[in-house]
This record gives sequence, C-alpha cells and structure tokens, in this order.
Amino acid sequence: MTLRFTAFTLFPNFFSAHLQEGVFSRGIKQNLLAFDTVNPRDFAEDERRKVDGHPVGGGDGMVLLPDVCARALDSVVSPETVVIHVSPGGKVFNNIWARTLAENTNHIVFLCGRYAGFDERFVQSRAHHEFSIGDFVLSGGEPAALCMMDAMARFVPGVLGNAQSALADSFEDGLLEAPQYTHPIEFNGQIVPKVLLSGHHAEIARYRRQEQIRRTALQRPDLIHRQWDSLTRAEQKQVESLWKSGSGSQSPRSLSR
Ligand SMILES: C[S@@+](CC[C@H](N)C(=O)[O-])C[C@H]1O[C@@H](n2cnc3c(N)ncnc32)[C@H](O)[C@@H]1O
Repeated sequence: MTLRFTAFTLFPNFFSAHLQEGVFSRGIKQNLLAFDTVNPRDFAEDERRKVDGHPVGGGDGMVLLPDVCARALDSVVSPETVVIHVSPGGKVFNNIWARTLAENTNHIVFLCGRYAGFDERFVQSRAHHEFSIGDFVLSGGEPAALCMMDAMARFVPGVLGNAQSALADSFEDGLLEAPQYTHPIEFNGQIVPKVLLSGHHAEIARYRRQEQIRRTALQRPDLIHRQWDSLTRAEQKQVESLWKSGSGSQSPRSLSR
C-alpha cells in the first residue's frame, strides 16, 4: 500500500530537495510513498489571484481566505483523506501519532499556513487534527509538515532499510535512546564504555537500559513520569538518586564558557 502525502501550500517548491534525498526518495521510488501538492493560489478567482485578506476586527498580518482554501482542498480530498492543520496552536506531534497515522491512513493532507494563518471556519470545518512541532513560531507550515511526513514515512513497512534499527530509537519504549559510539575506541582522550567492548550481550543490554533511564531522567523528566509504573523498583531508585544529586547530565557543553 502507498501512503500518499499532499502538501496544501503556497510554496510547492519548498519540498523538492527532501523528495530527492535519503529515506523519503527511496520510499517514493519503491511506490511505498507518494507526494503531491495543491496550491490555493490556483483556486483564486480574481485577477490578482488573491489568497488572503485583512483580519476582521483589526490586527496585523493577513489571513488565508476560507472560500479559496476550501475550493483548493476539495479538489484533492476523498472520504479516506485525513486532513492535518499544521499549527503552533495544535497538540505537539509525537512518534505515537506518527505510527498511528502511518499505519491507518493512505492519504494525508497537510494544511501549511502562511502569514497569520487560516480562517478559523475553514480549519474547523475541514481539518481532522491540528498538530504543532513545538513551542516556537515558524514563518510557514511547510517545515513542520516535512518533519511530520518524515516521521510517518519511517513507519511505512519497507521504507527503512533496517526496520529493526527503528525499534531501538528514542520514544519507541517511551524513553530516549542510549548514547551511541563507533570507532576509534579512543577519541579526544575519551574511551568508549568498556562494557560495550565485552561482547557480553546481556551486560550490554543492561548497560544500555540504565543509560536510557539516566538520559531520560536528566533530559526529559516528563517522559520518565509517564513511564514511571513500567520501571522496575531498582530503576525508580536510580531515577530518584539522579534527581536528588542532579549529576551526570548528558547535556551538550554550555555555550556560555
Ligand atoms: C507565522 S505562523 C502563524 C502563527 C499564528 N498567527 C499563531 O500565532 O498561532 C504561519 C504558519 O506557520 C505554521 N507554523 C508556525 N509555527 C508552527 C509550529 N510550531 N508547528 C506547526 N506549524 C507551525 C502554521 O501553519 C502557521 O499557520
């Protein structure tokens, strides 16, 4: 089955580089993914091909016209289509949504806003979901749509060369991934943790699990809180002592040296 993405965008060229690179381009070549765009400007009916208007009630910025947007969207949807409004006002997108949508949908339209965004009546009547990629404001929805598409594409069977590797990625078990190392064994005076050189699979798995918990406790305590009941008592104690000492942070080096 092919998962088709449609970007509803005033800037269709934005996506071209991504379509030609890496995992996404391979998915398209193998017909596992498909991508197209719809440009609301092509559905404007006046001579100037106007797509936006001043906000009613005053204020800065221009709002995308609901009638023009509705005509554009109606030209690409079918009853199976899932429409996502890409917006800083949405729920924060995550891996669970990426997997759920990739596994249960065959056509997703991303409404990429520009300027002050869409008229609320258009999104209320047409969008099934409203997703943000974080608490910051982009100048347009295209980069956010790209992030969501990429995350979903990884869950389409066959798109990743090695599906197993995705199972060890961050968030798969609700925690961050353990740190990764490659060669050389010594770099910058730092040596790869000894246990990884031992060849002892059970020890390595135990070490990685502890590192996952350590990293998550320090970087993303919100994730640990969510996973708390699934941790063993020993793991909970590990977290409690990390939080007490506040030591061992995995944070990148401070910029204010
Ligand atoms: C300049 S923003 C509009 C911001 C809007 N007036 C607000 O304050 O919520 C233009 C478009 O960028 C997109 N956008 C901006 N930040 C985003 C984010 N964090 N996540 C997803 N989309 C975002 C949305 O599609 C939005 O319509």
